[in-house]
Amino acid sequence: METKIFNATTVDQAAALIKAGQLVAFPTETVYGLGADATNVAAVKQVYQAKGRPSDNPLIVHVADVETVERFAKPLSVSAKKLIKAFWPGPLTMIFNLKPNALAPEVTGGLTTAAFRNPNNAATLALIRSAQTPIVGPSANTSGKPSPTLAQHVLHDLDGKIAGILDDGATQVGVESTVLDLSGTQPAILRPGAVTAAQIEAVIGEPVLTEQHHVGATEVPKAPGMKYKHYAPAAQVYIVDHVKDWPAALAWAAKQDVSVGVMATDDVFTTNQLPANCEQFSLGEDVESASRELFAGLRHFDTETEIKDILCQAFENTGLGAAYMNRLNKSAGQTHFSV
Ligand code: TXA
Ligand code: MG
Repeated sequence: METKIFNATTVDQAAALIKAGQLVAFPTETVYGLGADATNVAAVKQVYQAKGRPSDNPLIVHVADVETVERFAKPLSVSAKKLIKAFWPGPLTMIFNLKPNALAPEVTGGLTTAAFRNPNNAATLALIRSAQTPIVGPSANTSGKPSPTLAQHVLHDLDGKIAGILDDGATQVGVESTVLDLSGTQPAILRPGAVTAAQIEAVIGEPVLTEQHHVGATEVPKAPGMKYKHYAPAAQVYIVDHVKDWPAALAWAAKQDVSVGVMATDDVFTTNQLPANCEQFSLGEDVESASRELFAGLRHFDTETEIKDILCQAFENTGLGAAYMNRLNKSAGQTHFSV
C-alpha cells in the first residue's frame, strides 16, 4: 500500500480514510500517534498488527471534546472536570471507568477502564472532528523503538503498512503524555510526562501517587505498556549521570574501536574535547530541549551511522526531568556509565 502524506489543508482526505477503517498517523504536541477509528474493531486490530504491538496493551482514545468522553465513561468526578479544564487540550491522558461495553476489548485490552486524551494539535483536532469519531492512537513507531517526533520517523517504521500520515512538522514536547489513573480511590500517575505530579496536585488539592511506574521485574504493572522493552535503539545506551563524569566518559569512548554516539547539551560540547571517533547529537540547552530531542537522537544513531554505544546525559529526576529520565532509563535498560 502507498502511504500518502497529508497536511493541515488536506485533513478531510485523511479523515475520509479513518472513516473507511484505514490507519492514518497523526501529529500531537508530544509524539506522532497511529490513528484508527476507535469504534471500528477491525481498524483497531490493524493498529496492533502494523506496530507489532502485544494485544493486551490498551490504547489511548483521542477526543476533540469532553462530550465524547462522557459518551463512553461513567460520570466524571469533580477532580476530573478540574483537570480537564486546567490541562486540555494538552499532554495529560486520564483513565476513567467505562460504562458497560462502551468500547471494544481491542481498545481497552479487556479492562473496564479506558485512557482518554485531548491532544493540543489543531490539525489533529480537525481530523477527529472531520472523521466524526474518536481516534485510538498508540505512538506511531514499531513496537520497542523510540516514539516518532517527526513524520519521517513514522515513515521510516511504517511506510507501506499504513494508508497515510498527517504531517505537521516536529512535535513540541517530545515525550509522551502523562498517564493519570482516575479510576481508583486515589489518583496515580502511571507514566510521567510534561504535566507533572505537582501541577496535578495543585489543581485537585489532593496527593497523587507517583511510584506506580517503578515496577519490579516480577510485579504486574498497572499500565500494561510499562512492562515491555521500549525506546531501545540498536546501540547500547549508557546514562552519564553527572556533568563531572563527561571527561571520564569521553576518555572511555576514545578507547573504543568503533564510533560512539554522544547525546548531551551544548555546554558539554563546549567544555569538553570530543574524541575523533565520537559523533555528537545536541540535546539543546536544557531539560525541555533534551526531552524534545531525545527520541530523534536515539533514532539518528540507529539509522545514520554504525554506532554500537551511545553516551547520553541524565537530568534531575523531577518535573519534566522525571519524564525524560523514565524514557532514558528504558532505552538504556538502566545501564549507567560508571567512572
Ligand atoms: O503522548 C501520548 O500519549 C501518545 C500520543 C500519540 O497521544 N500516545 C501514546 O500511546 O504514548 P501508547 O499506546 O504508546 O501509550 C499509552 C500508555 C501505555 O503504557 C498503555 O499501557 C497505557 O497508556 N494505558 C492505556 N489505556 C490504559 C488503561 N485503561 N489502564 C492503564 N493503562 C492504560
Ligand atoms: Mg508507545
